[in-house]
Amino acid sequence: MSRVVYVNGRYMPYAKAAVHVEDRGFQFADGIYEVIAILGGRLVDGEGHLQRLERNLDELRIAHPMSRAALLVVLNETIRRNRVQDGSIYLQITRGAARRDFPFPAGIRPSVVAITRAVDMERVAAKAAQGGAAILAPDQRWARCDIKTVALLPAALAKQAAREQGAFEAFLVDRDGFITEGSSSNAWIVTKDGVLVTRDLGLSILSGITRGAILALAEAEGLRVEERRFRPEEVFAAREAFTTSTTAFVMPITSLDGRPIGNAAPGLLATKLRALYAAYAESEARGARSGSGYRTPSGL
Ligand code: PDD
Repeated sequence: MSRVVYVNGRYMPYAKAAVHVEDRGFQFADGIYEVIAILGGRLVDGEGHLQRLERNLDELRIAHPMSRAALLVVLNETIRRNRVQDGSIYLQITRGAARRDFPFPAGIRPSVVAITRAVDMERVAAKAAQGGAAILAPDQRWARCDIKTVALLPAALAKQAAREQGAFEAFLVDRDGFITEGSSSNAWIVTKDGVLVTRDLGLSILSGITRGAILALAEAEGLRVEERRFRPEEVFAAREAFTTSTTAFVMPITSLDGRPIGNAAPGLLATKLRALYAAYAESEARGARSGSGYRTPSGL
């Protein structure tokens, strides 16, 4: 079956899908994106992702290319045409194409691209059952990491460093010595006292849709949760560490910079939260349960 990509109003064969060479996404990273999970052919937390997308468009003063309802039609039609059951959809919106000039050009229309990817969820689950290694890397990103922009070079460099050291994720460390988040995930620990800790929302992390859902599930379970900064030393002393993201759900971290975390195996709480999240995502996609939405960083 041939793959189809949505590009600016048309469904194009994958090999022919293209945007203009002067697209500002290409020249200035002047655009944003979302990655939304697909389960059983349906979006997981579609509303939450589109809430975040709209806020990000507003923060960058990029025009909304269409209504939320119309975007949902595009996403669902792209999924349908590609017959994806489980996987993800990548949605990118840039300010548009114009002759290269730094200020915003007048009268251009945003570029919209949607690409699906099928994923074997059993393979992802098998990886999570093993857990994975992470490394520490300096956070070299810009000052607005709350916006999900396509400027992913620092994330790609950190991920490559992880790969070269046999790890799958990099925990990024800010100038004050605190962990912000993973290069493409939110970072969590479970302290020796059983407290679940993840960085508080603000300019230095992305408000993950999975993070929000996990917080809601943890609260419903009556777990003790703290949203605050933490240092690498706290990770080394932690009982468990894990990451959350749309594509990996909950991924246990079994070592950091080669040092074992807890007993160097996926932790009990991470494993439990993964199971709770998988059940939540499945029922949310079916429409049997409403999503937990997007937590807007307050005071920004
Ligand atoms: N990344 N933090 C960063 C820097 C991210 O890039 C991501 C997601 C997250 C988790 O957010 P969410 O739970 O909404 O997926 C946190 C996506 C999956 C990516 O770039 O592929």
